[in-house]
Amino acid sequence: VRRFATVSHTGRSDGAWNLNDLAGGAGRVDVLCRNIQSALLLSHGLRADAEFYAVLTGPPQGPKTVRLQGSAIQMLHPDERSTAARLQQALQAAWSVPDWKEVQRGLAVARFGLEGLLDDLKGRCTPVLLDPKGTPIESWDPPKEPLFLLSDHIPFTEAEYAALDAKGVQRVSLGPHWYHGNHAISVVQWFLDKRSPVPSDARPTTS
Ligand SMILES: C[S@@+](CC[C@H](N)C(=O)[O-])C[C@H]1O[C@@H](n2cnc3c(N)ncnc32)[C@H](O)[C@@H]1O
Repeated sequence: VRRFATVSHTGRSDGAWNLNDLAGGAGRVDVLCRNIQSALLLSHGLRADAEFYAVLTGPPQGPKTVRLQGSAIQMLHPDERSTAARLQQALQAAWSVPDWKEVQRGLAVARFGLEGLLDDLKGRCTPVLLDPKGTPIESWDPPKEPLFLLSDHIPFTEAEYAALDAKGVQRVSLGPHWYHGNHAISVVQWFLDKRSPVPSDARPTTS
């Protein structure tokens, strides 16, 4: 499975946002939505071998992570508004279990942030920080089960970098320019698709 995570430093973790104001009052949830689309969607298809984790660090309800699984999620469309609505449904679900609460097929939420996610996935994947100062992707041998980590429009904090370094997370670079996160994900998808083509069982979508 290819996994992508984006840490949102400003997205409201209660999901109490106006779908017409994703880039403003919601806290740049538009960034998360574009990253979700690059991680999970093909044209007219869903990547059944991909997962996305939206990590919301902050206020007002503390950290939460939303998981979208390409193998199971239904009715994921390539527009930001409806994608934000799915995040909202997950963030506003009521639950009491300590870890993942499956809100809909392929859509789940948990009450932890980046470190909790890394602990949850420990042993199941290799975290890889996408960073212009890392190993050039051209000379990098990807692990079988990568988890690519990206920040939103704001850099990772010193504390986040320290936590990732403490876990020995490798850094991989797409070059010296800072790209938008969704563009960075598309480049990674292309790079991995060249090595192991998209399975022919990609799930069809309407658009
Ligand atoms: C829009 S960028 C973040 C920009 C933010 N101002 C910062 O300094 O982190 C979003 C994410 O895309 C990834 N990214 C962008 N350009 C990259 C590059 N050249 N190589 C590797 N990752 C890159 C990084 O993971 C980054 O956190």
